[in-house]
Amino acid sequence: MSSSGSYAVVCAPGALARAGALVLHRGDSANAFIVSSPRVWRHCGRAIAAKCPGRAGRHPILFDDRESRKNLATVESIARQLIKAGADRHATVVAVGGGVVGDVAGFAAATYLRGVRLVQIPTTLVAQVDSAVGGKTGVNLPEGKNLVGAFYPPKVVIADPALLATLPHREYRSGLYEVIKYGAIADPELFAFLERRMSSVLRRDSADLGWIISRSIAIKARVVGEDEREGGLRQILNFGHTLGHALEAATGYRLFLHGEAIGWGMVAASMMALSMDRLPLMDAFRIVRLIASVGPLPKVPAIPAAKLRSILAGDKKSRGGRVLWVFPRKIGKTVWGVEVPWRLVEKTVRSLPEIMNEAQSGAKLPGAKRGKS
Ligand SMILES: NC(=O)c1ccc[n+]([C@@H]2O[C@H](COP(=O)([O-])OP(=O)(O)OC[C@H]3O[C@@H](n4cnc5c(N)ncnc54)[C@H](O)[C@@H]3O)[C@@H](O)[C@H]2O)c1
Ligand SMILES: [Zn+2]
Repeated sequence: MSSSGSYAVVCAPGALARAGALVLHRGDSANAFIVSSPRVWRHCGRAIAAKCPGRAGRHPILFDDRESRKNLATVESIARQLIKAGADRHATVVAVGGGVVGDVAGFAAATYLRGVRLVQIPTTLVAQVDSAVGGKTGVNLPEGKNLVGAFYPPKVVIADPALLATLPHREYRSGLYEVIKYGAIADPELFAFLERRMSSVLRRDSADLGWIISRSIAIKARVVGEDEREGGLRQILNFGHTLGHALEAATGYRLFLHGEAIGWGMVAASMMALSMDRLPLMDAFRIVRLIASVGPLPKVPAIPAAKLRSILAGDKKSRGGRVLWVFPRKIGKTVWGVEVPWRLVEKTVRSLPEIMNEAQSGAKLPGAKRGKS
């Protein structure tokens, strides 16, 4: 699924027990180097170390995985610790953690001695369905997020839903918005499953979790396999991200978790698609209702229109100041590169709280036209 060869993604409850030993023992196990964070290691270290006996499990390289530490200084520190630990060109870096650990350790693996083997063991829902799959690694600069990085696919991804048991509930729910995204853009069956079983998914039922994670990974793998470097199809993965990224940036990355901002972004894109007659009413209603069923989202604060507009125009997805949106066409089908009149963007963002209130109370969508379902 990538230009540098295909790689396996192992996802199922118990995947770590089955695949972990295989991967970590393959070849020279003394040459495996775990990179993780103190918090992740506290929760998941014992399970991983049991599969990785010897030095790697006993002496993981740990760094503080706050987003503010996702920077080049951390990569340098990891590289220096790898040198000290004797990692050579045949070493394997095993990233154990959420997206921050995966992105940083992945970039360290991509650049250490010009590239060593990388294994991803994602421990958040976001990392399992998104960041560990697809080969993007990188770090932030003071000027912005993910500005330095490399496409560097791992050799193996081991996504074990059991590792999510200790994830704080807000982080878990945040990942569910990305799962909803996969259903909305490419998988009506996944979408309907989430509609039927949201309460057991919210309880982290392990069979349900295994199913939705592997469906999500399959979609990401297929899309990325067809368009590794984001020329075309990969843009459908940005559904909800145009406004989502703008909300994150406008609030200094402090108010919303990423998935929460994407939840609002998907509501906005769906409502704009509805207003522009690009999405049937029933499909817009189902998308908004499913997002609402995950629970309350942090409120969208009042953002001055000029600020929002300038952030949107500066987004990676905009071309020469033209903001291009990803719209659902119906559940499971997506279009991208859509221009939206600024008036509609502004009006939609202003009405987001009202739309969500209505969806949570089970009423019909405000502003919805009649006779289009
Ligand atoms: N490379 C990509 O394609 C890609 C895609 C999406 C997101 N990202 C990046 O991923 C990062 C966000 O990742 P995230 O949402 O996984 O959050 P995260 O890595 O910040 O982890 C969230 C919190 O959960 C903790 N944690 C992780 N696993 C745990 C577990 N099993 N039990 C208890 N606590 C646990 C972490 O220590 C952290 O405090 C961002 O930097 C984003 O840019 C990258
Ligand atoms: Zn995302």
